Amino acid sequence: MDWVGVDPLRQVVSRDAAMAQIDWLNIHWQVDIPDFGYYFWWDDKGLSLKSAAFDFRSRVHIDFVEGTQARRIKAVTGEALTRAMGCQKGLRPAIFDATAGLGGDLSVLANVGCAVYAVERQPVVAALLKDALRRHAIDGDAGWCERVQLQCADSRDLMSHISHGVVYIDPMFQKDRKSAPSLSMQVLHTLEGTTERPEQLIDAALDSGAARVVVKRPIRADFLAGRSPSSQVKGKTVRFDLYSRRKLTDADAIPHQGLIDG
Ligand SMILES: C[S@@+](CC[C@H](N)C(=O)[O-])C[C@H]1O[C@@H](n2cnc3c(N)ncnc32)[C@H](O)[C@@H]1O
Repeated sequence: MDWVGVDPLRQVVSRDAAMAQIDWLNIHWQVDIPDFGYYFWWDDKGLSLKSAAFDFRSRVHIDFVEGTQARRIKAVTGEALTRAMGCQKGLRPAIFDATAGLGGDLSVLANVGCAVYAVERQPVVAALLKDALRRHAIDGDAGWCERVQLQCADSRDLMSHISHGVVYIDPMFQKDRKSAPSLSMQVLHTLEGTTERPEQLIDAALDSGAARVVVKRPIRADFLAGRSPSSQVKGKTVRFDLYSRRKLTDADAIPHQGLIDG
């Protein structure tokens, strides 16, 4: 599918260098703002997504260098997410993040030392994430980014290559009418391909060679696909359902990259 991009200052050199890493999208760049629909925006903050329907200043933009997510990454010591993955006593399992999304969880996991193979099916979301990782590698402490591989693909097609480590699944939650979702979450819900068939992900993950499968759920939600976990790690508003296949060992810390390519 072709997309419109707006580059008001015609920063062609920096833009083309960044876009060379995002080969799954075809973006037609222009200076003028379109009258309707979503469009990409390029400026000194890198790649964002805007909509003609939003306030002009609003954008979906991932930032690992400054702001809320950067603070979350730095603050993490033993949050529920890392405990659910089995991070303990120096063990840092390799994570196959089957639903990378905006990269919030994977950045925390990579920062504590896990190798993360991240997969995002939605091409717009994958593009925003890829560009945020690129910027962080340049502007931030590049360390944890080097542990992240990102692929724009459907995780279900890759699960059969997994022989170890942890598969992490964070499906889109149902829209919660009580709380106002962030702009990013509202947009994610409207983009094609973000919400379909999460039960197929758990089926594929449980058929893979992963030592453990972890599913993030709202604290009171049913089990994904009705499958009872072997244990749970609970946070305040979410919980992690653990499906343990075998004990995690140092062999589960080997990055997934070579296995999938091989
Ligand atoms: C709730 S978001 C994940 C949020 C992420 N954990 C974070 O911290 O930002 C779910 C994401 O999974 C993606 N997704 C859903 N099914 C997928 C699949 N089969 N393969 C790859 N990505 C998928 C959706 O496009 C969406 O971006």
